Amino acid sequence: MNDTSHAPVTVTLTGAGGQIGYAALFRIAAGDMLGPDQRVRLRLLEIPQGMRSAEGTALELADCAFPLLDSVELTDDASIGFDGTNIALLIGSRPRTAGMERGDLLEANGAIFGPQGRAIGAAAADDVRVVVVGNPANTNALIAQQHAGGVPAERFTALTRLDHNRAVGLLAAEAGVAVPEVAGITIWGNHSATQYPDVSGATIGDRPALDVVDAEWARGAYIDRVAKRGAEIIEVRGGSSVGSAANAAIEHVRDWVLGTGERRTSAAVVSRGEYGVPEGLISSFPVRAVDGAWNVVEDLEIDAFSRERIDRSVAELVSERDAVRGLGLIG
Ligand code: NAD
Ligand code: LMR
Repeated sequence: MNDTSHAPVTVTLTGAGGQIGYAALFRIAAGDMLGPDQRVRLRLLEIPQGMRSAEGTALELADCAFPLLDSVELTDDASIGFDGTNIALLIGSRPRTAGMERGDLLEANGAIFGPQGRAIGAAAADDVRVVVVGNPANTNALIAQQHAGGVPAERFTALTRLDHNRAVGLLAAEAGVAVPEVAGITIWGNHSATQYPDVSGATIGDRPALDVVDAEWARGAYIDRVAKRGAEIIEVRGGSSVGSAANAAIEHVRDWVLGTGERRTSAAVVSRGEYGVPEGLISSFPVRAVDGAWNVVEDLEIDAFSRERIDRSVAELVSERDAVRGLGLIG
């Protein structure tokens, strides 16, 4: 029998009435995020227009009779939604639709994340950990972090695990191997088309990835395919990715809390200047999680090609930061 005696963890999910919320909540309540022994209290934070849909999800959660689910609370008030929260998944925002550029999202979504950051600073638990999924995720995370006085900056992260998983899956498919054979991939920079999926240090089985797959493909079509996979999904599905995004958010939090061991993954974390990324930006890096904290894996070799690609994506993050500063969304 499972030991469900741990004190419950409070998980707040914004956008709970939306698609990713729907795909994530049942898995969180089933124990996929925090483990099979960890009870959870769910807080579903929505805007008034989304409350009805979130209520429906809450009814379905009740109908699952999950043993690990202590309670489900719905609110459209951020100060209640983040009160005592240990883990916040900031999903609620406006998804990109066909033909819409990410830059258009800055203004539409920026204003959501300042107030949410403030509410987290004022009300969340001391150990709060935040992952931003809503796009533009890195810059939304920066806005929230800048408003959350008193919360250590490194508790704010943005999701690039989906990009990482896409990069692993596509490389494994090209090499004709099973996913667990692939290691050492890094997503650098922004969760956007400028991101750099880097296989230069990756391995397939016990061989360098670049000895197994065509290097020209790995530095051309592959990068494009991974970086534009979000747009490909929108085109093919007629809406942005949902199941894979929920899965990635769950894996991000699970690794952060439970640790990665020696396995490397990618997450957008606050730069302390590693690899020349300006301090304070929330940029994707190679990371491992140890004792509940993300650590950037340092001292990887960066060749001229990688340098140029990393710099390009980081320059986009700088311009997004400057744009939201210009809009008065951060100081
Ligand atoms: P959706 O439109 O189905 O759901 C969004 C929900 O958020 C809606 O129910 C809406 O009412 C709610 N919402 C809006 N503003 C809110 C606020 N201030 N507080 C609380 N809730 C709020 O969208 P979705 O498909 O669930 O996608 C959500 C976001 O995730 C989008 O921005 C999308 O672009 C992004 N996304 C990110 C990744 C990633 O890898 N980082 C991947 C896929 C999607
Ligand atoms: C994704 O990567 O699938 C999402 O961020 C949607 C998008 O706008 O690309």
